[in-house]
Amino acid sequence: MPASKKIRVAVLYGGRSGEHEVSLRSAASVVRNLDRNRFEVISVAIDKQGRWLLNDSVKISELAGKSAVLAILPDAIPVALLPEVAQGKSAFVALENAGHKVAPIEFDVVFPVIHGPLCEDGTIQGILELAEVPYVGCGVLASSVGMDKDVAKRLARDAGLPIVPFVSLRTGAWLKSSEKMGQVRERVQRELGFPVFVKPANMGSSVGVHKVREAANFDQAVKDAFRYDTKVLVERAVDAREIEIAVMENSEAGGAPLVSVVGEIVPTHEFYSYEAKYLDENGAVLKIPADLNLEQIRIVQQLGRDIFEALECEGMARVDLFLDRTSGKFFFNEVNTIPGFTSISMYPKLWEAAGMGYSELLSRLVDLALARQVRKHALLREFKA
Ligand SMILES: Nc1ncnc2c1ncn2[C@@H]1O[C@H](COP(=O)(O)OP(=O)(O)O)[C@@H](O)[C@H]1O
Ligand SMILES: [Mg+2]
Repeated sequence: MPASKKIRVAVLYGGRSGEHEVSLRSAASVVRNLDRNRFEVISVAIDKQGRWLLNDSVKISELAGKSAVLAILPDAIPVALLPEVAQGKSAFVALENAGHKVAPIEFDVVFPVIHGPLCEDGTIQGILELAEVPYVGCGVLASSVGMDKDVAKRLARDAGLPIVPFVSLRTGAWLKSSEKMGQVRERVQRELGFPVFVKPANMGSSVGVHKVREAANFDQAVKDAFRYDTKVLVERAVDAREIEIAVMENSEAGGAPLVSVVGEIVPTHEFYSYEAKYLDENGAVLKIPADLNLEQIRIVQQLGRDIFEALECEGMARVDLFLDRTSGKFFFNEVNTIPGFTSISMYPKLWEAAGMGYSELLSRLVDLALARQVRKHALLREFKA
C-alpha cells in the first residue's frame, strides 16, 4: 500500500489530569502497536499546562519502540487543532507565535489515550466534535457520564441494573454548618450503615477515596473528598471481589456490544487504593480469567453489555463491577471510557485472552471511529422538506 493511502492516526496523550503519567505509559504501547501497514502515526502531547505539542513522528516511534514511557520530546512544536475541516481533512497548525512556520499537519482520526478529568470526561471529545474530527471511543455524553460516578450510577439504576446504595453530597449542602454535617452523618448511618466508602464524584485512580469504618471518622473523609470535587459520593461498603470486563461497540449496526473474557483485580491492600495502584508495584494482582463459574461469567458479560448500552457508550469501555462475597451478587461500580492501555493493562489483556491481539484491537477501534464519522456525516443538520 503506498504511504499516502495509509490512515493517519493522531495519538493524543498526556493531559491535565493526575493520570498524566499513566497516559504516557498507555501512549507508548499504543504508538508501538498501531499497525504500520495500515496506519501512519503522529503524536500530540498535552502537557500539564494544557499546551498541545506535536512530536517528531520518527523520533517518537523510535522512543515508543524502546521505552515504556512516551515522554514529550523537548523539541515538540506547540500546535492547535484547526476548528474547520479544510479540503476534507482535519489538521493541526503550528502556532505562529512560537516562531515555527510549518504547513498544516493533516490527519484522519484521533486516538485519545488520556485519562481522567479534562481528558476522558467529554471535554476533549467536545473539542474534537467541534472540529469534526473522528475519534476513538465514547462521544461527549457517555464520556462525561462515565466520569461522574453519581450520574453513571443513576443511569444504571434507571436501566434496572444493580448498584450499591449511595447518597451524593454537594459542597454547599453540608459545609454550611456542623449541624448539617451531623444530619448527613445520621442519614448515612440510617440509610447505608457503616462502613462506607467516601469518594469524589469525578476523579479516578482512587484519589480522595476513603473507607470509613465508623461515624467518628466520617467528617474527615468527607472533607478530604471535597478537596477534589464539589460532589462526593458516600456508598455502602461491600466485601467486594473486583471484577472487570472489556466491552467494544459492535461494528454491525444494531448488534450487541462485544464482551471479552472476565478479569479480576486482587489488591494486596485493604482496597484498591492509590497506593495499591501506583506506589506499590505488588499492590494488586491481575487475574485473567477471573475464577468464576459459567453462570457468573454469563451474568458479568450481560452486565457489561447492559451498562455499555445504558450509559450510551461507543467504541470502547471497561466496565468495573463488584462481586459481593457475602451475598454473591454483582454490582456495577464504574465505567472507564478510556481505560489504561499499557501493555499490562486490563483492557488490552482481556481482549488478548479473548483472542484479539493488541494491534488488532487498536485497528478495530480506529475503524469504529471512522465508521461513526460516516454515520454522522449522513445526518441532516438543518430542516429539509
Ligand atoms: N462501595 C464500595 N465497596 C467496597 N469497595 C469499594 C467501594 N467503593 C470503592 N471501593 C474500593 O475503592 C476503589 C476505588 O474506587 P472507585 O469507585 O473504583 O474509584 P476510582 O475511579 O478512583 O477507581 C475500588 O477499586 C475498591 O477497591
Ligand atoms: Mg475504579
